[in-house]
Order: sequence, then C-alpha cells, then structure tokens
Amino acid sequence: MEQKEVKLFTPATVANVSCGFDILGFCLDTIGDDMIIRKTEGHGITITKITGFDLPTTTTENVAGISALALMDYLKPNCGFEIEIHKRIKPGSGIGSSAASAAGSVFGINYLLGNPLNKTELTSFAMKGEAYASKAEHADNLAPALFGGFTLVKSTQPLQVLQLPTPSDLFAAIIHPQIEIKTADARAILPRETSLKNCITQTANMGSFVHALHTSDYDLIESSLKDVIIEPHRKALIPKFDTLKENVMASGALGCGISGSGPSIYTLCKGQDKAKAIAEVMTQIYSDTTIPFEIYVSKINTEGIKIK
Ligand code: HSE
Repeated sequence: MEQKEVKLFTPATVANVSCGFDILGFCLDTIGDDMIIRKTEGHGITITKITGFDLPTTTTENVAGISALALMDYLKPNCGFEIEIHKRIKPGSGIGSSAASAAGSVFGINYLLGNPLNKTELTSFAMKGEAYASKAEHADNLAPALFGGFTLVKSTQPLQVLQLPTPSDLFAAIIHPQIEIKTADARAILPRETSLKNCITQTANMGSFVHALHTSDYDLIESSLKDVIIEPHRKALIPKFDTLKENVMASGALGCGISGSGPSIYTLCKGQDKAKAIAEVMTQIYSDTTIPFEIYVSKINTEGIKIK
C-alpha cells in the first residue's frame, strides 16, 4: 500500500567546528525536532501545525515551506504535501534550527515520492530555505542533518558534499545561553578579508582535522580545533566565552568554539563520561550569570535525519 505519511526526527547540528567556517559540520543525536509529512491529493504545500516555538505557518515565510516549494517546482509531482513541525531546537540557538526544518521537509517529501533525489540534491533544495533564514546560502548545517556524521561542503556551486568519518569515541557537550544572536548580524560583523598568515594557519588546521577524523587521532583533533579567523570577532557576542573555553580546555575537552553563528558553544570530548564532566563545568560557569541556559550531551549522530 502506498505510504501517505512519514514521521521524522530532524537533528540539531554544529556548523563551522572552529577550523571550517561555512564548510564543516557535524550532526547531534539527543536534540532535534519531530516532523510529519503527509501526501495530499490537492497540489501545493501547507504547513498545518507548528508547536514549540512561534514561527510563521505561511509556506512562503517558513524555511520548511520554502525548501519544499523549491523541490516541488523541480519535481512537479501529481500531489501536494502537508507539513507538521514540532520544534524543540530554539530558533537562533546556533545549533541548526532552521536547517533541521529545511532538511526535514525535503527529506520527507522525497521519501514519500520514492526517493527520486540523492542527499546532495536534497541539500541544494534545502539551501533555499536556509538562505531565507540566514540571508546567505550555506550548507554547513544542512549537510550534516541530511548525511549524518561530519560533513565537508567542498563547494556550493556546484554543490559538493564530502562525508567524513566519525571516530567512535567522540561526544559533544553543548551549552545554549538563551540570548539572541541573528546569523545575519553575526555574519555582518566579520571582516571581508583576512591575512595570508591566518589563512595558512586555518588551512593547516582544517586539513589536519580531516586527517585526524580519518585516523581517529584524538591528539590531532585537539590541536586542530582552532579558529584564528572568525572566533576572535564573534566571541564578544557571547558572555563568558573566554572563561568557559579556558575552563573546559583545562578540564580535558578536545576542542571548544562557537557553534555556527552562536550563541551556543560546542565542545568535542573523548568519551561520554568526559563530555558529561565538561557539561558540568559549563553549567558551573553559566550558573554564575543571570542568563538562562540549556546543556546538551550527545554522541555524534552518524545517520542524520531518522524515520521514526
Ligand atoms: N556557517 C554559518 C555561520 C553557520 O557561521 O555564519 C550559521 O548558520
């Protein structure tokens, strides 16, 4: 019998990962949204329900709707779709809230149509929604949401996504301070140019990080997770960033940096126990402030979006 409905878990993601601005990302497992996509006889895309956060249900003003419309325009199926979104990833958190919705809608529609498109093609349609949300076409949250694990966006035109291996003992601990940083604003403060010296350092770290993932070399992961180009400018937007980073690194995190455009801060750790201990350190530091926050510990989700 023809499947008319699919329920999805659409995961949160960490973009940039310090050394790979706009190109690197990884997928989380314990935080994400639920989405339901339903095939309808009438044509077009309708967003029937959004819970969790107050977001527009007008298709042309919602990232899931915009991505779905772009996909429909290309595939021209003889049916329409309803989208239901149950959000748990707060918009503007820096852990890929808009990407989860944009990726989920195209994944679900493609699935119900018998998977005519591959994940790279789906990423390119989801980018239309992401561009609406952040005013820039980047796929560093979308690619890990769709492919799972670590991904490298080698180019956006044409779109080329490389799947990188995930060392089995790698866990993330993340703090989400509940302050608002708009991606467009966090991009606007960045200088248009950088020095050759910075470029060389960042390229060396990026290359060695990719090698470290391939060889499960945790020491090399640690020495590669550095950002000399973006973090020095953006960290001023996040209270206690330097203190938190110093403390988690002193407590044995492999790396720490701004998750996407912030305000979330990610750490990568060897082993779940270490990630839990680092989450405690983060909790202590932010408990000294008046800023509410959420803490997450997650293994790396190597699957990406999951059918429930
Ligand atoms: N790479 C993007 C940025 C991710 O840092 O601006 C934000 O969604």
